[in-house]
Amino acid sequence: MSMYNKKTIEDIDVSGKKVIARCDFNVPMKDGVITDDKRIVEALPTIKYLKEHGAAVILCSHLGRPKGEFNMKYTLAPVAAKLSELLGEEVIFANDVIGPDAKAKAAALKSGQVMLLENVRFHKEEEKNDPEFAKELASMAEIYVNDAFGTAHRAHATTAGIAAYLPAVCGFLIRKEITVMGGALENPKRPFVAILGGAKVSDKIGVINNLLEKVDMLIIGGGMAYTFFNAKGLSVGTSICEYDKADLARQILDKAKEKGVAMLLPVDNIIGREYKEDTTFMRIYSNAIPDGWMGLDIGEKTQELFSKSLIGAGTVVWNGPMGVSEWDNFAGGTRTVAKAVAESGAVSIIGGGDSAAAVEALGYADKMTHISTGGGASLEFLEGLDLPGIAALNDKD
Ligand code: 3PG
Repeated sequence: MSMYNKKTIEDIDVSGKKVIARCDFNVPMKDGVITDDKRIVEALPTIKYLKEHGAAVILCSHLGRPKGEFNMKYTLAPVAAKLSELLGEEVIFANDVIGPDAKAKAAALKSGQVMLLENVRFHKEEEKNDPEFAKELASMAEIYVNDAFGTAHRAHATTAGIAAYLPAVCGFLIRKEITVMGGALENPKRPFVAILGGAKVSDKIGVINNLLEKVDMLIIGGGMAYTFFNAKGLSVGTSICEYDKADLARQILDKAKEKGVAMLLPVDNIIGREYKEDTTFMRIYSNAIPDGWMGLDIGEKTQELFSKSLIGAGTVVWNGPMGVSEWDNFAGGTRTVAKAVAESGAVSIIGGGDSAAAVEALGYADKMTHISTGGGASLEFLEGLDLPGIAALNDKD
């Protein structure tokens, strides 16, 4: 596939060159403080390589969704400070993107120095993939590096458009993400088990369809299980449920049967009165959810079933929590599955977003083979789609 044949920073001479590198520094923040720096840490190998090989490094990223306007709530200044701390040296911060401050600082930047531009989404041209904006950014550098795996599913000016104006290669994070996830999809150690959770079947339909072609077993938990229950004629009370996706869910069940993929759904559930952290709750079998109650986690029997099914797995891909894992009363399913995946000895790949956050919060992060830095991007990758941010890069000769 074309995505695996892209040039990397090792295929190009960066020494003495100005390099503009797109990272995904879209990190979670609370009151201006970064609460999880994983995406910054994961960008360090590329930044260090570029520095050590004599490049002057101009970094850029988006943060949040400021809708094309300067908004100091979304400034990247805290990221520059965090990067300085992690690199142990000054990271110069420009307080605009293509304005006089960025241009002057980029022009003065020396080999081995690192600077960060302000949030590229302060310009509406970024998300529009505007060619003039891309050209302006390109004019500050001689080489473009994309290492923003988390944003590689967006065709924006700094993730795709800019590649038309400069030699364009990928960094180590993108290479790692597509090698590990691509390897699992193309040539998995078997049995290959996929675990999918999260609220909606409709969000994951592409992933389910692609994975059904490849896996030996598909385990479904989280809110989306109730759409399958409904499709099977079970009552789901007030659980989250896409009633209009019943046919789709039936087609998925049929396809799994046809392909010989074992498909596991929860056999019991923790149900609550209301969607509230401290709501009354109890355990109930899947065929007995009463009116007025909603499923908030998988039950103990299901935890046991899912855990047992993971023993001996060769490869596990997991995307989406098993319940409302940020609330302690409903985190049990996600915790048990995280433990079972960690102990399975399988090549374990955790899609980004909620499942990655849950695995980290529950303390199993270092037991997994790979935790993707992409939420939407890892989903689209698992769907088998070409990611525009990778497709735009130069192919190897
Ligand atoms: C993410 O966090 O998934 C990426 O940074 C992309 O952000 P976006 O969904 O706002 O484009």
